[in-house]
Parts: sequence; structure tokens; C-alpha cells
Amino acid sequence: MVVMKTLYKRVLKPILFKFDPELIHDVFVSGGELLGRFTLTRGLIGMFYRYDGPDISKTVDGIRYHTPVGLAAGFDYNGRLTRILPSVGFGADEIGSITARPCAGNDPPRLRRCIQSEALVVSKGLKNKGVDAFIEKMRRTSREPGFVLGVSIARTNDDLAVGLEEGIEDYATSLQKLVDTNIGDFYTINISCPNVHGGESFAEPDALRPLLERLMAIKHDKPVYAKMPISVSWPEFQEITDIVVEYGLDGVVIGNLNKDYDSLRYRDEAPADYAGGLSGLPCRDPSTELIRRTRQHYGDDLTIIGCGGIMTAEDAMEKFRAGADLLQLITGMIFEGPHLMKQIGKAYARNRSQIRGDKPRRRVTQPEREVVSIAD
Ligand SMILES: Cc1cc2nc3c(=O)[nH]c(=O)nc-3n(C[C@H](O)[C@H](O)[C@H](O)COP(=O)(O)O)c2cc1C
Repeated sequence: MVVMKTLYKRVLKPILFKFDPELIHDVFVSGGELLGRFTLTRGLIGMFYRYDGPDISKTVDGIRYHTPVGLAAGFDYNGRLTRILPSVGFGADEIGSITARPCAGNDPPRLRRCIQSEALVVSKGLKNKGVDAFIEKMRRTSREPGFVLGVSIARTNDDLAVGLEEGIEDYATSLQKLVDTNIGDFYTINISCPNVHGGESFAEPDALRPLLERLMAIKHDKPVYAKMPISVSWPEFQEITDIVVEYGLDGVVIGNLNKDYDSLRYRDEAPADYAGGLSGLPCRDPSTELIRRTRQHYGDDLTIIGCGGIMTAEDAMEKFRAGADLLQLITGMIFEGPHLMKQIGKAYARNRSQIRGDKPRRRVTQPEREVVSIAD
């Protein structure tokens, strides 16, 4: 592993970082999809990167994860990497965010690096092929048994979905189609995308309530999570989480990109236009702190998926100790290399006694939406 780490950080990364980040992202997704097609390439990659220590599987909300680290939404927008990700040490892929209609995304540059600050400036604008193309793709793709597939759903980033009702129907269209085709093991409602033009912000209580009312009326038996903003105060965060709990979602992903450019370690790396949210290190402490407070305030029943700035195995353990049940990451893999997931797996195995174990599903009685066992 040390050799692979050195090779990535000393040789491969300096070369990759000379090229446009979105180009490299596209090359990796296409390459990953190709390598995932063949047993031989999956096996070879798995020899280096797949976690191979003591059992670290974990069952959360009735879903068994081989390893508790998943790829966060935004890397595999169209579901092209599900075959290769288990070989790179991931236990889950949160695909998307997908939208009801295809989105071309925002104008470039959609992705920039702040190298010294270990951050990316993300302004993708939900570039994806839309829910229909995704469903078609999933129908044609087999997946490794036990590999978990989450689907993140967002509002289409176009002029048709700008009004509140149109926006809500947009989310509902995607969810209904996924439910009808039985695709995805869990669903995440992305209420906090900082990169879409106009339209409602569904992290506002007045928009969030009707959205969740509509989405939770769609019947299925899969866990549903909300992707939370992190650039908000604790009272604001609490107001959103209260609504999430009230409407019977299973948990929260904490969280999305950081909108606060002061959180960059080197402020002068900020792009002049300040367009986009920050991933990576600027997300680490705010998300860990929100995980801690959420666990303390809402008790054991709410599932927390910790996400944001996991650059090392120690960052991952911090999030687990703060109360996360599962983790997701993107930027740490880009800055540190693909051995990071295996390192986290090993650290998890060593520290398991200090970390929350399996988590049963939160019980919510329908249709009153009376939450049965959640601490105040
Ligand atoms: C290129 C890129 C695209 C992203 N797109 C989405 C998205 O579509 N939906 C979403 O919920 N989060 C999206 N995110 C946010 C990530 O899921 C994650 O919350 C954030 O990057 C913090 O994790 P990290 O520091 O490990 O990257 C994106 C992040 C990146 C880097």
C-alpha cells in the first residue's frame, strides 16, 4: 500500500493535476467504466485497493454494507462506475444527483482545484443525462452482490423547474420512476445543491415541507435520506433537521459543499468569481461538528452519513466518533489517491469498539407520521 500511495502522490497526481480537473474527472469515469467491464481488470485493481482485513461489514437501515465507506454524489453522475467501485474499496455508490430531465450543467469552468487548500471549487450544475437514461443504464448493468446503490435526486437545473410546484414535481417524477423500476437501495433527496440557477432553495422550511410531503407520499420500502447544507448556523440546521425527522426520513447526509470561502486554508486560492461550492478540507470540520451536534441532539435513531473533507483515515475516524453510521467521500480520493478507502477500512477495523455498530431502521408510523422513538 505504501508503494501505491507514493506512486500516486509523487508520480501520478502531479501529472494529473497539470490538466483541467473536469477533463481528468471524465477520463477517470470513462476509464473506470471500461476497467469495470472485465473480471481480470476488476481483480487486478482489487488486489491493490480492495479492503482485505477482518470483517468490517455494517448493516444500516436494513442494508448491509461490505465496508462503511461510499462514493459521495457528484462523482458518478450517470451510474457508470458501479462495477469498478467495489475493487477500489467502496461499499456503496451514491449516484447522481440525477434529475427528471437531462441537464447540460453550468457554464465552464465547472470544476477547479485549490491545491494548497486541498479543495475543489465545484460548479457542476447537476450535469447529468436524466432519470430515464440512468434507469436504462442500470437495467443494462449487473452489479457485484452486496454492493450498495444509492440514488441522489435533485431538481432539474433548467427554466422549467423554477417554480415551487414545478420543482417539487420534478423531484417526484424522478423518485416515482426509480420506485416503479425498483432501482436503488436507498434514496437521498438533495435539498442543498448550491450550484443551480434560480428556483426554490429546498433547504428553506417553506419549500422543504411541501417537497417532503409529496415525496414521502410515494410508497416504497427503501430508506430515504436528506443531503444537508453545512454553511448554515446550528439553529438553521436544526430547523431543517426537525422537518426531516417530522416527515419520517431515515436520516441525513452531513453534508454538501461549503459555500464559505473564508474556510479555505489559503484564501488567495479562491477563484475571482466565487462561483461554486467548496469540497474537500474546507468541509471537514464544519461537517464533523454538525454530525456531533446532530447525534447529541437527535439521539440514536437518526441515521447519519458523514461526508465532507475526509482526507485521511483519521478524518474518517473523527466522523465515526462524532456519531456517523456510514461515510461518503470524493475529494480525499482525488488528493490522496485510491488507497484511502482501504486505509479507512483498516482504521475502522482497529477502532471498531469505539464506533457505533449496526443501526436498525427508525420506526415511523404512517400515515400520521408520528415518530415513534426519537430522542429530543
Ligand atoms: C465534482 C463534484 C460534484 C458534486 N455534485 C454533487 C451532486 O450532484 N449532488 C450532491 O448531493 N452532492 C454533490 N457534490 C458534493 C459531494 O457529494 C460532497 O458532499 C462534497 O464534495 C464533500 O465531500 P468531499 O469533501 O469528500 O468531496 C459534488 C462534489 C463534487 C466534488
